[in-house]
Amino acid sequence: MVGMTDKATVDLSGPAQTMLTTLYLKARDAGLARPVLGDTFAQQAIERLDYDWQQLGISARWAPLVTVRTAQYDAWAREFLAAHPRATVIHVGCGLDCRVQRLDPGPEIAWYDVDYPEVIALRETIYPARPGYTLVPTSATDPTWLDQIPADRPTLLIAEGISMYLTAEQGAELLQHVVDRFPSGELQIDFYNGFAIRTQRAHMLNRRTGSKLYWAVDRPEDVLARVSGIRPVAAVSFFGAEPYDRTSAGFRAARSLARVAPPVRNALQYHRYSF
Ligand SMILES: C[S@@+](CC[C@H](N)C(=O)[O-])C[C@H]1O[C@@H](n2cnc3c(N)ncnc32)[C@H](O)[C@@H]1O
Repeated sequence: MVGMTDKATVDLSGPAQTMLTTLYLKARDAGLARPVLGDTFAQQAIERLDYDWQQLGISARWAPLVTVRTAQYDAWAREFLAAHPRATVIHVGCGLDCRVQRLDPGPEIAWYDVDYPEVIALRETIYPARPGYTLVPTSATDPTWLDQIPADRPTLLIAEGISMYLTAEQGAELLQHVVDRFPSGELQIDFYNGFAIRTQRAHMLNRRTGSKLYWAVDRPEDVLARVSGIRPVAAVSFFGAEPYDRTSAGFRAARSLARVAPPVRNALQYHRYSF
């Protein structure tokens, strides 16, 4: 881990770079008088990176696009952990997200944070190690990494902000592998709908990072058609998620505009399945 005064250098490209924006927006949210997520770990993390955050070209007012999602998955993950105090959590596409610090799970939870090797290397330089916590440097599409995780407990897969960088085949293969390998558990995963994927050239984040988006999901049935052995538990859109009610008045006003345009209303979807 870097010392108190040193800063870690950031050298990333493509999808790996996108997690800088999500981290930055979480940090900015934490500085607000009424934060949605209130992630002070993200605030500390951006101080440890040698990076010109202005170059992201994103304003803090867009923070809810990230923090509503993260707060929703924190709430669902807490529910899973409360019901399964002895469990495995696989957090794939973790980026520099501080979920393990925010949730601070008990000693019977085996937690795996998974991302590309260059992202995991950066995590190692800015976050301390902790008991029961393992970093897995790999592409999520490599078919072998999941088989190294013991399959002895109920397992939660959290995949936040990664499905869209996978093809539908790659994403479904990953989910099916989890369902087939572990005895029981949940898949908590978010998606962009067809409209969001089709209009991707308009998304600043993808233009800037040169990332391409693939997997479009309009409804849980699209996932059920590709992955067997799962049952839907919940599906909400950005506007329907409980943390959305904690956003600023400006953001809450957007809900009535989105109501008249279903593709926009359903652009960002947060799903939860059990198996
Ligand atoms: C938009 S960021 C989200 C990061 C984090 N989940 C969050 O919400 O802050 C997308 C993350 O997915 C990771 N990712 C994308 N494709 C991946 C793949 N094939 N294998 C592993 N990680 C991948 C990127 O490296 C990046 O960290």
